[in-house]
Parts: sequence; C-alpha cells; structure tokens
Amino acid sequence: MKIFIDSADINEIKSLNETGLIDGVTTNPSLIAKSGLNFIDAIEQICKIVDGPISAEVTATDADTMILEGKKLSKIASNVVIKVPLTVDGLKACKNFSNENIKVNVTLCFSAGQAILAAKAGATYISPFIGRLDDIGADGINLISEIVDIYDLHDFKTEVLAASIRSVQDIVDSAKLGAHVATIPPKILQSMYDHPLTDKGLNAFLKDWEKTGQSIL
Ligand code: E4P
Repeated sequence: MKIFIDSADINEIKSLNETGLIDGVTTNPSLIAKSGLNFIDAIEQICKIVDGPISAEVTATDADTMILEGKKLSKIASNVVIKVPLTVDGLKACKNFSNENIKVNVTLCFSAGQAILAAKAGATYISPFIGRLDDIGADGINLISEIVDIYDLHDFKTEVLAASIRSVQDIVDSAKLGAHVATIPPKILQSMYDHPLTDKGLNAFLKDWEKTGQSIL
C-alpha cells in the first residue's frame, strides 16, 4: 500500500519525506488555508520535495472552469494530480482530464455508487472519506470494502485512496481490505511508529549493552 501525506505544511512534508517512506501528497483548500501559503507556490514547493503524485484541488464548481483551473495546476509540475469533487461537473471535468491523460483524484466520495461513476469517468484515484462517515455514525471502513470489491469485480483501474483518516486502525483496516493508498495526516503517520513494548525493549537492550562495555564502532 502506498503512503501519501495529507498536508500542505512544507516543513512537515520535508521532514516526513526524509524517511524515504512517502509516495505522494494530498492537499485540499482547507489544508492550503491552514498553511497560510499561496496555493500555487505551495504546490510548486511540494512537487519539488516529494517525487510522487501531488494532489491539487480545483475550487470552481462548473466543469468548464474546473478544466481551466486543472490545466493551469497541471502545468506546475509533471507530478501534479488534479483533484475534483464528486459532483456532476467534477466528473465531467474528470472525464475531460482522463481523455487528455491528465491524472485525477476524485474527492469527497461517500458512497459506492459515487465511486462507480468516478471509475467510469476515468479517475486515477477515488478518495472515500472514512473519518467523516464515522463522524456521522456511518461505517467508513465498510465503504472502502465495498469499493475495493466492486473495482476488483469489474476490473476498474481506478485506485482506492483511503482518505479522512483518524487513526492507525483506519490505515490497518484499509490495508487489509486492499486499498491501494492511504493519505495520512502527519500526526497519525508519526504515531504509526509507536508501541510501548518497542520503547521498553529498546531500553532493556541498551542497558544490557552498556554492561558489556563494548562499542560497535
Ligand atoms: C484528502 O484528500 C482529504 O481531503 C482529507 O483526507 C480529508 O480529511 P478530513 O476529513 O480529516 O478533513
């Protein structure tokens, strides 16, 4: 499973990218607003840091303007993926981009029916929002399961990008179900490393090693 960072914070992206484990980045208008950066500059910087797909979201609501915005964004760098909302106009724009071999991430997906339409529109990625479904008492992980099954059954090439992740368990569950990508907020990505037994075990190893008086170098 590929790991994308769900952030527009340049310093966080830089530092996480140094792990060598990052395959891409997703942004959205809220993350850009939170970063305080100019949108185009932010995408340009992120594209230089991470060698992988970088999602940049259009903000128009009609297909024609989405297409103009997407074409401008796709000129920023060759790794830009155009993010469009799952609306009638968003999918019209998606079809147009996919006909021109421009990669598209269809976002704000909350149902399997929507995901079928996105695949038909030639989306490169579909982004089902796990956390926001859980927030309203629905089952976000079940949506991942439904979409993975349908795409497999019908051999759709669209990749399932698990989004709106709130916990490490969301990532594990998405991975078990066969999601191709998880886009992970930096804090949750950091916490994936953690286990109290790792800390306890390492402390014990280091203490015992000190007793030997040896050094490897
Ligand atoms: C990613 O593409 C989405 O925009 C993001 O995962 C949404 O997450 P949120 O529901 O935590 O805002």
